[in-house]
Amino acid sequence: MTLRTLESLGSLAGARVIVRCDLNVPLKDGRITDDGRVRASLPTLNALINQGARVVIISHLGRPDGAPDAQYSLAPVAQRLSELLGKPVTFASDTTGAGAHDAVSALEDGDVALLENLRFNPGETSKDEAERTAFAAKLAAFGDAFVSDGFGVVHRKQASVYELAKALPSAAGQLISTELDVLERLTESPERPYAVVLGGSKVSDKLGVIGHLLPRVDSLLVGGGMLFTFLAALGHPVGSSLLEADQIDTVKGYLAKAKELGVDIVLPTDVVVASKFGADAEHVVRPIDGIEDTEWGASGLGLDIGPETSATFAAIIRAARTVFWNGPMGVFELAPFAAGTKSIAQALTEIDGLGVVGGGDSAAAVRALGFDDEQFGHISTGGGASLEFLEGKRLPGLEVLGWQQ
Ligand code: 3PG
Repeated sequence: MTLRTLESLGSLAGARVIVRCDLNVPLKDGRITDDGRVRASLPTLNALINQGARVVIISHLGRPDGAPDAQYSLAPVAQRLSELLGKPVTFASDTTGAGAHDAVSALEDGDVALLENLRFNPGETSKDEAERTAFAAKLAAFGDAFVSDGFGVVHRKQASVYELAKALPSAAGQLISTELDVLERLTESPERPYAVVLGGSKVSDKLGVIGHLLPRVDSLLVGGGMLFTFLAALGHPVGSSLLEADQIDTVKGYLAKAKELGVDIVLPTDVVVASKFGADAEHVVRPIDGIEDTEWGASGLGLDIGPETSATFAAIIRAARTVFWNGPMGVFELAPFAAGTKSIAQALTEIDGLGVVGGGDSAAAVRALGFDDEQFGHISTGGGASLEFLEGKRLPGLEVLGWQQ
């Protein structure tokens, strides 16, 4: 079965349409530092507004514990949405209480309301299906139809993602359709050479995808904090670098499997070793077996891939026809350790083929480093969701919309 798209809902003029977006944006001191997910939600919202629907937007932000928590309020997002849509967005101070009721009942055709953070309610993320269903029923009372467009949460079996889609006539919005089209190009006969670049801090988050991708890609490039678990698996001392010691044996298994399959797991040849974690740290470039050969000994830590590695990775990326990249190569937030991530991003803008940046962190990284979204084939709004898709896992938020892998 294929995904039910917006058109399947027929005319929505005058209808109350609940739209599940993923407006989980990074905030600093109450200000949005990367509004990519808000912008990615606009096509569906504008399509509904232009049809004259009464649009009720719902989303989570962060991981509050099932109760209101001001630091996770969606209020700043309502303001940004209003600026980007060029029209008022009524913000309801709760999700299913009097505030939400008032906001929804006051909507006229083409108007927009955003309800407060779904995760201020325990029913949203409850492990108990009955509790999720009860919460979804309360949300469903606000709508005549449901549009699911929060791609970043389709891997979560949560009330607003799964049970709500069953409670109302439902379909996927344009963002989910677009994301799915791109991910299908990565999984169904991708143009070759196909390279996957993995970074970020936790190797344990990426193990599933490494296992699944190994037989499917031509090269797998590993950088970021997870690199040091690979180096440890090869027997190299890693000083005080990030290390998941309990994953070393699994990583050894993947290295052996890659050899057997003839797939290149491309590891860095050099790293930037720092005296401490901080923008003012002293730092030097060392080969991967020399991390502890600095004046800081075992207290030195690797915070970025080195220049030789950046050049090697960039060359592989430029020669590929399909590239998926998830996870920064180093601590890009600190200027001295941003070069690796920047060179990967730059190479990805230069490929002759499809270059996909997957996930919130990588997307935020490329924007923070001064790249424009338009320079890439696609920037996915879903980190966990796109990785689980590539892992071949079942995604409840897509299955409930009729999609089957
Ligand atoms: C994300 O940031 O990956 C999505 O918004 C999902 O958030 P979660 O991991 O807290 O469910």
